[in-house]
Amino acid sequence: MRVTVQSRAGAYFVDIAPGLLASLAEDPAGTGISGRVAVVTDANVRPLWGDRVRAMLAGAGLDPVLLEVPAGEGSKTLAQADALWTGLIQAGLGRGDTVLALGGGVVGDLAGFVAATYHRGLRLVHAPTTLLAQVDSSIGGKVAIDHRLGKNLIGAFHPPVRVVADVSTLRTLPVRERWNGLAEVVKTALVLDGELFGELEAALPALGGGRADDEGWAGVVGRTAALKARLVSEDELERGPRMLLNLGHTVGHALEAATGHGPLTHGEAVVVGMRAAVAVSERLGRLGPEEARRIEAVLSRFPRPLPVPRPSWDEVRAALGRDKKASAGKIRYVILEGIGRGAIEPSLPEELLAFAIDRALESL
Ligand SMILES: NC(=O)c1ccc[n+]([C@@H]2O[C@H](COP(=O)([O-])OP(=O)(O)OC[C@H]3O[C@@H](n4cnc5c(N)ncnc54)[C@H](O)[C@@H]3O)[C@@H](O)[C@H]2O)c1
Ligand SMILES: [Zn+2]
Repeated sequence: MRVTVQSRAGAYFVDIAPGLLASLAEDPAGTGISGRVAVVTDANVRPLWGDRVRAMLAGAGLDPVLLEVPAGEGSKTLAQADALWTGLIQAGLGRGDTVLALGGGVVGDLAGFVAATYHRGLRLVHAPTTLLAQVDSSIGGKVAIDHRLGKNLIGAFHPPVRVVADVSTLRTLPVRERWNGLAEVVKTALVLDGELFGELEAALPALGGGRADDEGWAGVVGRTAALKARLVSEDELERGPRMLLNLGHTVGHALEAATGHGPLTHGEAVVVGMRAAVAVSERLGRLGPEEARRIEAVLSRFPRPLPVPRPSWDEVRAALGRDKKASAGKIRYVILEGIGRGAIEPSLPEELLAFAIDRALESL
């Protein structure tokens, strides 16, 4: 499946299918590669997929350089960006060459940031290898590293020239990472596509349980990626409809921050945040009880997070105030007006915010 994304820097394609990594070597120009290629990957992905990609590119006469960073969020730092800049300089890459980000969202954000800044911008091809990266982080052009005072604070918009989403790479994904990505899939369906949500009601156990085949994944990834592509094409800079994708993220991010970024995966926090959003939507009279029940039935399929030290109500409230989605003291909040119909509340009243935090802490 091929999805088109519009961006200020021009349109680009997101290709989704099994076995696509081979196309990078078979038809480099056709996948957006030009000049030499720096394959940026992490320590987990290199032995699983990175060495193979390097060998294929070398076999095609492309003289690739492979740069590896440690796995995990801890690599989205200026120090790792510096190490990658150094690698690019030492390998002699310059304008006209290509950065290939092969990995999850961490590699995509970090390699993308390096591509955005090195020589004032190198071509970037995303080859996402986690479900989250295939349906979410590789689409939309945001690249960033973290700062000690907050996540994703130092970054840019640097759209890729192509996204090559090879769903076969999901075969090696650990189960927790599968559910992590599925939280974003369910979220996207909830705000935009009731039909996809209906399919997930039946398919979620097989997808999360590792019983889906490549074709099954290609369908789910393709449809979710197409929905995200539509929103970011309409609203690249996130001033309007793109904000719908923050369903579950206001409270979710606050929980991640209040638990010290670590014990909860992002997806686990977003599932709790979506429960809070459903409760708020019901309370506002915008979502009916039957739809709320169907959503809860799907969310209850997600494995329960490992027990975490429960943050206090005040800690969560304080983290909410620091969130990027808060401006001038107002908390923007995504609610549901039905399954497949998200809506943005520009300023959620304090009383409902308190209610959302209560519900989130109850379901933790
Ligand atoms: N730019 C955006 O628009 C955007 C959107 C959402 C999230 N993000 C960012 O994405 C990051 C999270 O991404 P993520 O969830 O992909 O995390 P990640 O990149 O850390 O990957 C998760 C884990 O899976 C491993 N892995 C990756 N692919 C694998 C494979 N095929 N087989 C086995 N293991 C594999 C990784 O080594 C890592 O240990 C965060 O930093 C977040 O801020 C960015
Ligand atoms: Zn998310």
